[in-house]
Amino acid sequence: MHTTVGIIGGGPAGLLLARLLHLAGIDSVVLESRDRAYVEHRQRAGILEQGAVDVLRECGAGERMDREGLVHDGIELRFDRRSHRIDFPSLTGGRRVMVYAQTEVVKDLISLQLRQGGGPLLFEAYVRAVTGIDTDRPAVHFTHEGREQTLTCDYVVGCDGSHGVARTAIPDLTIYERSYPYSWLGIMADVPPSCDELIYAHSDRGFALHSMRSTTVSRIYLQVPNGTDLAEWPDERIWDELDARFAVEGDWKLERGPITAKSVLPMRSLVAEPMRHGRIFLAGDAAHIVPPTGAKGLNLAFSDVVVLARAFAHLNATGSAELLDAYSATCLRRVWRAEHFSYFMTTTMHVDPAQSPFDTRLQLSQLDRIATGTAAATELAENYTGLPVG
Ligand code: FAD
Ligand code: DHB
Repeated sequence: MHTTVGIIGGGPAGLLLARLLHLAGIDSVVLESRDRAYVEHRQRAGILEQGAVDVLRECGAGERMDREGLVHDGIELRFDRRSHRIDFPSLTGGRRVMVYAQTEVVKDLISLQLRQGGGPLLFEAYVRAVTGIDTDRPAVHFTHEGREQTLTCDYVVGCDGSHGVARTAIPDLTIYERSYPYSWLGIMADVPPSCDELIYAHSDRGFALHSMRSTTVSRIYLQVPNGTDLAEWPDERIWDELDARFAVEGDWKLERGPITAKSVLPMRSLVAEPMRHGRIFLAGDAAHIVPPTGAKGLNLAFSDVVVLARAFAHLNATGSAELLDAYSATCLRRVWRAEHFSYFMTTTMHVDPAQSPFDTRLQLSQLDRIATGTAAATELAENYTGLPVG
C-alpha cells in the first residue's frame, strides 16, 4: 500500500487533516488504533474557538454544529464569592466561541470522510513503528485484522496524541514539560446547566468549572489531588463540594441531577520541538499538551493541521516546499502563546497544596485586575477566543 500522506491517529487532528487534504486533491490514509465507537465517544473538549468553527464550516463539517452547538459571548469568573462576566465580542471586535463537544466534531468528520470519498480511514489499525523518515519513502508499520502490514508514504504525519508512537520515531526532539500538583475530576450530569455561560471558579477549596454539553446536560470539573480514587467521591460528595466552590453572594443555585460519567484527568504542559524531522511531521497532542483550563488543546490541534494542509497544497500546486519547511516555526509561535495562556489560567485559578496565603492574595489580585481593568480582560478574551487559524 502507498499513499501521499500517511496519517497516524484518527482523533480531531488526523480526521481534519485527511479532510483538508482531500479537498486539496491530495491522497491520504488514516490509521486509527481504536474502533469507531470508542473514538466517537471519548469525552474530552467542549469549546471551539472562532477559527476552529470557521474551518469546520469551510470543510463541510459545520452543518450539525451550527444547528446544535451553543454560541457563547462570554464566560463568568467567580472568586471571593463575587461574580464577574468577561464579554468577548466587545473586548475582541466581535469574536465568540462555540460549545460543541469534541465527540460530536469527531462523529461529523468521520461520517464526512466515509460518505464523501476521502482516503481510507482504517479503525483498529495499530501503528507499531515508523521507519525511513530520513529517506524519501518513509514507511508506517501497523497491525490490522490480525495481519502485520506496511504503508509506504511520501510523508508521514503523527496525529496520534500524547501517548502515540510518532514522537518516539524522531531522534532529535527537545521536550519541554511541566506537571501540576492537582488533577480534574470531571462529571457528566443529566441536568440542565445552572448557568447560561461557563463559570470558572477560584475558591480556597480549589478550582471548579461549570460547562455544558447541551441545554439538558451539564459538564462540570473540580480540582482534586493527584492520584485521587473515584471511589472516594460518591455523587453527594461531588455536589456538596461543587456547592461550596461555586458559592457566591446573591441567589444562585447549582441544580443537581443524575451523574452519568466520572473520570480523573491529570494535568500536563509539554512541547516537543521541532515539530518536523525529515519526512515526518507532528500535529496536535502528539507535539504539545496543555492543561485544559484554557480550553486550547483541540483548537491548537486544528490550527496545526490547517497550517500543514496549506503547506502540502502549496507543494502540490507549485512544487515548492517552503511552507512545509516553515511548518514547525509557524506552529510553535501559536503553541507557545497557548502554552502560556493555559499555564496562566491554570496557576491563577487552582490552589497549589503548597501555596502560602501570600500566593493566594496574589491570585486574587490578578483576578481582580481582570475583573476591573480593560487591558487584562481584553488579554484574557483575546486568548480565550483565539487567533485566526493558520
Ligand atoms: P487525540 O484526540 O488524542 O487523538 C489521537 C488519536 O490517535 C487517538 O484516536 C488514538 O486512539 C490514536 N492513536 C494513538 N496511538 C496510536 C497508534 N500507535 N496507532 C494508531 N492510532 C493511534 N481542548 C480544547 O481545545 N478545548 C477544551 O475545552 C478541551 N477540554 C478538554 C477536557 C478534557 C477533560 C481533556 C482530557 C482534554 C481537553 N482538551 C480540550 C484537549 C483536547 O481534547 C485534545 O487536545 C485533542 O483531543 C487533541 O486532538 P489530537 O487529534 O491531537 O489527539
Ligand atoms: C470544557 C473543558 C475545558 O477544559 C474548558 O476550559 C472549558 C470547557 C468542556 O469540556 O466543556
